[in-house]
Amino acid sequence: MSEQLSDSDASGSDVNDADSAEEFDWVDDPAVEAICATLVETVPEIRTALAQRRAYVDRENPSGERIRAADEFADDRLETALLAVDGVASYASEERAEPVFGEEVDGGDAGRGYHLAVDPLDGSSNLRSNSPMGTIVGVYDRPLPASGEHLVAATYVLYGPNTTMVVAESERTAEYLVTETGAEVLDSEVEIPMDPTVYGMGGRRPDWTERVTEATEAMEADRLKLRYGGAFVADVSQVLTHGGLFAYPELRDAPEGKLRYHFECAPMGLITESAGGAATTGDGDWRDVEPTELHERSPIYLGTESLVDEIETTFENW
Ligand code: F6P
Ligand code: MN
Repeated sequence: MSEQLSDSDASGSDVNDADSAEEFDWVDDPAVEAICATLVETVPEIRTALAQRRAYVDRENPSGERIRAADEFADDRLETALLAVDGVASYASEERAEPVFGEEVDGGDAGRGYHLAVDPLDGSSNLRSNSPMGTIVGVYDRPLPASGEHLVAATYVLYGPNTTMVVAESERTAEYLVTETGAEVLDSEVEIPMDPTVYGMGGRRPDWTERVTEATEAMEADRLKLRYGGAFVADVSQVLTHGGLFAYPELRDAPEGKLRYHFECAPMGLITESAGGAATTGDGDWRDVEPTELHERSPIYLGTESLVDEIETTFENW
């Protein structure tokens, strides 16, 4: 990831205000390009709205999590903006039981256009502590549920000290700085470091299965440093920047872990692999999962290839 965010860069003076769609001209597909440009236009407003929307609303999402006003705001804004993009057939999100279909394809052939899986505000429990959070978008060429084989592109936005956006398509991952005036390329080809330095493992240690504990202890013995931020987007960004592994693993009482396959695991799997890393469910390729439910969960282990290989070997031998 880029070292470019020096003080002068962060002042915004270098950000060009050209049509942000031009920034994504390396992306093969015009619909994916338009999705990225739409996110660039939409996320500054979402970021600004966070501070005033920390309270819970009286509703749970389909995964049984309490929803904050900020989750609802981000979901509404993204639904409206993304369904208006030419080539987007449907919008599914962590906050809704079912996908919403665009007018063009309503009741018609849902096979036309892309099907989006959106985590509008990943890590929103970080609102109270003023810690980072993000937005994740997976672009599928089939109606959901669909296997990761059908994921054609993925992107995440990270609301940290700066707003950055990472886009994966055509086996390439690029990073942008996003401001009110558009997107600026920070790193046109993100490469995850081969030499790992950090790891993060979700869940409570006593709840880990024995093979998760063994794999984690091996990383600790290799002198990797623990980094855990409580927002998947921020934790993946740590790994892409410093090299290492992040996982929300299988747990004794929750073999599928916590993260959702369509909205979180598969998009981040694609982003990590397109940056030269690897990802696995622990029991095989994340692309081979055949989900039957929209909100299905899956364990995910992703990061520098050597560490993901070690996880797979440890798990196979167990
Ligand atoms: O979206 C779920 C999520 O908030 C992720 O962003 C994050 O990785 C995880 O949950 C954190 O879970 P926990 O609170 O169990 O550490
Ligand atoms: Mn999330």
